[in-house]
Amino acid sequence: MQNILVTGGAGFIGSNFVRHILRAGADLRVVTLDALTYAGSLENLKDLPHPEKHAFVQGDICDRTLVENTLDQHKIDTIVHFAAESHVDRSILGPGPFVQTNLVGTFTLLESARLVWGESGGFDGRRFHHVSTDEVFGSLGPGDPAFREVTPYDPRSPYSASKAGSDHLVRAYFHTYALPVTLTNCSNNYGPYQFPEKLIPLMILNAIRGAPLPVYGDGLQVRDWLYVEDHCEAIHLVLEKGRPGETYNIGGGNQPVNIEIVRLVCAILDELHPQGTPHERLITHVPDRPGHDRRYAMDITKIQAELGWSPRHTLGSGLRTTVEWYLSRPEWVTVIAQQSGYNEWLEKNYGKRGGGM
Ligand code: NAD
Ligand code: TYD
Repeated sequence: MQNILVTGGAGFIGSNFVRHILRAGADLRVVTLDALTYAGSLENLKDLPHPEKHAFVQGDICDRTLVENTLDQHKIDTIVHFAAESHVDRSILGPGPFVQTNLVGTFTLLESARLVWGESGGFDGRRFHHVSTDEVFGSLGPGDPAFREVTPYDPRSPYSASKAGSDHLVRAYFHTYALPVTLTNCSNNYGPYQFPEKLIPLMILNAIRGAPLPVYGDGLQVRDWLYVEDHCEAIHLVLEKGRPGETYNIGGGNQPVNIEIVRLVCAILDELHPQGTPHERLITHVPDRPGHDRRYAMDITKIQAELGWSPRHTLGSGLRTTVEWYLSRPEWVTVIAQQSGYNEWLEKNYGKRGGGM
């Protein structure tokens, strides 16, 4: 029996992973530890497969006593660490929580695992998996090669800097204490349950209500888009076959510029939600994000060669499924917006940029 602790399991990728792992594994139990910040919701954990194998603990990963008790009481042998402050724009407007959760929180989890596992049979059969981002590597120019696992870190936002620091801590625990860690650095995800502050769900929901589609700057920035289920499969494979101490890059190989992504979303909506067509007329260029990274791209040769992982979804199929999901879940959108103070966020981030949000 495997007992898995998923931190941040009420957020976007975490909740998709909880679903994925409950569907996949007969002989496991999952405990979600989540503080339910604005980005986390129990709405994301409704209708789980095999709910009898899942337990939810509400709490902060910075709370050492709670984390140690949870590891101990649920006999956790595997930690999959998603919990984080995850949005670059929020990190620009208020970096404090990023340092607290991403650095202090990760440190608290590492210390707790070292202590509790050390006192209950040692590290054999245990695993600490840390979920990180391609943003730690910085920004690429148009002709630069894609990021590899050995590319030097060069984070440029408070978000990416705090994630970079957490990656360093995780590696330090492997080298110093032999804690059996693995890391994955993944590119931009999209798919069901993504909080609508991020580009793709924001554009879908704004387009549905006929609001402007706020494209930062010239819209020619490049991200390496990956459908969330592909990310979950990759993490699952790393848990099963990844070598302790190793890092694996994950990416989708989908690299249209931002404005093209927005146009693709508009074209799908023109077909599935013809009111207000053409939705492209809503595209509005607004002032750019400070320090905006121009381009990310992931070299996924290592995970392909060692573990046999490749993304299964194309950008076209993944975007279509995502748009369909948001169109079919208006009640999710309403509850999430109410719980999280979403309108206040829109005002805070976009009010001064103009564009009539
Ligand atoms: P998210 O913001 O949707 O969810 C984060 C979750 O963590 C929420 O449920 C929130 O309540 C919880 N949380 C935040 N602070 C906490 C704390 N102190 N204690 C306990 N729980 C807390 O994030 P996401 O997009 O699902 O990202 C998950 C992880 O994947 C993050 O570590 C992020 O850096 C990484 N990542 C995200 C992407 C992406 O495109 N979204 C890409 C690569 C890596
Ligand atoms: P985002 O989803 O915030 O992810 P990240 O900053 O982690 O890559 O943004 C993706 C890209 O879309 C990024 O280049 C910023 C851009 N963007 C906009 O142009 N407008 C928006 O309103 C948002 C939220 C993002």
